[in-house]
Amino acid sequence: MTKKIDPCTLVLFGATGNLSRVKLMPGLYRLDSLGRLPDDMKILSVGRSPIAHDDWQTEVRKMLEAKFYDGLDEAVFERFIARNHYQANASDDPEAMNKLAARLTDESNFPQNFAYFLSIRPVDFANVVEQLASVGLTDDSKYWRRVLIEKPFGTDLDSAKDLQTSITKHLKEDQIYRIDHYLGKAALQNIMLTRFANHMFEPIWNNEHIDHVQITNNETLGVGDRTQFYDGTGALRDMGQSHLLQTLALVAMEKPADFNPDSIRAEKIKLLQSIRAIDTDNLNKQAFRAQYKEGHVPARDGHSEHVKGYIDELGYESQVETYAAIKLFIDNPRWKGVPFYVRTGKRMHEGSTAISIRFKKAPIVLKEDQQQNWLILSIQPKECINMEIQTKVPGLDILTRSISMDGQLRQETDDSVDSYETLLLNLMEGDPSLFLHIDEVQAQWKLIDPIVKSWAEDASPVHQYPAGSRDPKESGVIFESEDQFWRYSIELGGDTH
Ligand code: BG6
Repeated sequence: MTKKIDPCTLVLFGATGNLSRVKLMPGLYRLDSLGRLPDDMKILSVGRSPIAHDDWQTEVRKMLEAKFYDGLDEAVFERFIARNHYQANASDDPEAMNKLAARLTDESNFPQNFAYFLSIRPVDFANVVEQLASVGLTDDSKYWRRVLIEKPFGTDLDSAKDLQTSITKHLKEDQIYRIDHYLGKAALQNIMLTRFANHMFEPIWNNEHIDHVQITNNETLGVGDRTQFYDGTGALRDMGQSHLLQTLALVAMEKPADFNPDSIRAEKIKLLQSIRAIDTDNLNKQAFRAQYKEGHVPARDGHSEHVKGYIDELGYESQVETYAAIKLFIDNPRWKGVPFYVRTGKRMHEGSTAISIRFKKAPIVLKEDQQQNWLILSIQPKECINMEIQTKVPGLDILTRSISMDGQLRQETDDSVDSYETLLLNLMEGDPSLFLHIDEVQAQWKLIDPIVKSWAEDASPVHQYPAGSRDPKESGVIFESEDQFWRYSIELGGDTH
């Protein structure tokens, strides 16, 4: 269902940055090409350096051409570029915000509903909100004014609370859009629909039938040019605190009363708050960290590529993890005793994000190595649901083997929408369902903080794994029982050691 969008201006802070180049500008252009931007919508990009109007438009064209190799649709481009304007906001200009306000509030040029997208350094979030408020740009008495805050919202529980205190001096909760771009992925939204728009899953979605759940994000990429950021963050905070805990919440939450944003968020909050706190005295049985060293990762052309280790990229010694695996328990009747393993790694053997659910042993076990059932919800690169079951091998003997029932979520004619496109649209529509409530953010930090703190205090050498390898064997220490092990692939056979 297409929702109506009021005439509005999207104010893009950090417009010359990487996110804007790679995701936001191309995303907005795509939305325009799909006819999803209202005619009277404008984009005001804000950056540090002065850039003339024509130069900015040329720059935007370059951003789009770098993304859409097949060329641009010139008619769409004409329409899109006419929406685009630029405003310099130099940090050493005390009048910068007043200038922005004077320009933006000129109704003859810009629609007065404003959506601010803060794609800037996290340390600047509070300051920019404060400055916007100081010149009246957050006042929503006549028009709506919304602020989208990029991840991370804080770097731990205390800083998240501080940020919240400072922005809520100027903004009401319904003006704040805290992003977790994983929620914009169609395959993630599908988790809830698979669970609740079918009858067959819900009755078995509990500790009576489920042995354990693995929530996995593997990347072949390394930390790239983000070494400084990454070394202050680590894998657990970068991926675990946000995207993977949100995924877990969608897999494990109770059925919401309805599909309204508040009902869904209420269930996610309840779930996140019922995850048992990590016992830091026994951390080694619940969390494992490691760092990649040099090795070979799969390259695009099908060959493999030699890559440096993390420390070599960084240029100095560090204990920060590029691989993290943790075991979580949920203290509610549905999930009592079921371990949820959450893991993420850079420079792994493959890039893939998936939820793998292993069911308990079958009532009839014909051979010792008979596989247990798996249900796999794959988020990327494949968007599919696979169910692995035992079936009879045709022939005279009573033998079973595993087969996979593969369900592709995507059909050829389906739209391929990037998560940022969905979220940009939701921001303009005023739909907060795919954004985080502050209680979710806080519950996530509360859970992760003690692990990060314990790791930071632990000076013992961090385990090293060669780039391009599967999970370090030693990470198996967190398994609850001896017959549990990492699934290394969503393909059939990906559960063999
Ligand atoms: C970001 C992390 O939030 O998510 C990155 O900071 C990570 O380190 C990225 O690579 C993964 O996102 P996606 O959509 O490519 O899986």
